[in-house]
Amino acid sequence: MQSRVRLRRLELGDAPAVASFRSDPEVARYQSWEAYSLADAELLCAAQEGNEIGTPGTWSQMAIVLVESGEVIGDCGLRFPGLDEPGRGTEIEIGITLGRAFHGRGLATESLACIIELAFGRLKKRAIHATVDAANVPAAALLMRAGFSRAGDEARRVWFKGAWGEEWDYVLRRSEEDPTNAVSAAR
Ligand SMILES: CC(C)(COP(=O)(O)OP(=O)(O)OC[C@H]1O[C@@H](n2cnc3c(N)ncnc32)[C@H](O)[C@@H]1OP(=O)(O)O)[C@@H](O)C(=O)NCCC(=O)NCCS
Repeated sequence: MQSRVRLRRLELGDAPAVASFRSDPEVARYQSWEAYSLADAELLCAAQEGNEIGTPGTWSQMAIVLVESGEVIGDCGLRFPGLDEPGRGTEIEIGITLGRAFHGRGLATESLACIIELAFGRLKKRAIHATVDAANVPAAALLMRAGFSRAGDEARRVWFKGAWGEEWDYVLRRSEEDPTNAVSAAR
């Protein structure tokens, strides 16, 4: 089936849309930011200009675009470990955010399928990691639907937004026998 979304690099003109969905308190709840201004979004988008996807030690921020309308409905970040970090060259970390109006329609699942295809296909990575707050049920469900599993048996205790909480690491590894296996699991 044709995907309803596509990914592309964030551009400066995306800043108003990004600020709009990232400043929603429900969307920000388990994210690293509290408030999110237009200036924050402009900085994020401008930083992508000239960023070569896959550069060690950087995040590539991509827009999630609704194919039907061209609207930017969310964003996703792909972090490439630095040269002195574990997983350098072979693994990435991701984060995904969708505007609240677009939740509950399977659009995040399709976006994640695009990310997996990019990571295991064009970028030829072997594993994708994501860190999720233990209370962020929709994010955990999204990852599990795509075939991710928890890495390790115990959640990590973290001080987050003024309170103690827990977070889990999730991982999806590319099947070495059939690199498309993990991708098809996400569809
Ligand atoms: C994490 C996040 C992207 C998940 O979004 P989501 O809307 O739950 O995920 P999907 O778009 O895949 O939609 C799945 C839901 O749509 C339903 N759905 C409807 N039509 C569907 C379709 N065609 N295909 C698949 N699912 C569909 C599913 O049943 C599911 O509903 P349920 O949650 O009641 O079981 C979203 O909650 C979000 O942006 N949160 C804020 C940012 C955040 O915390 N990100 C995590 C950081 S890693």
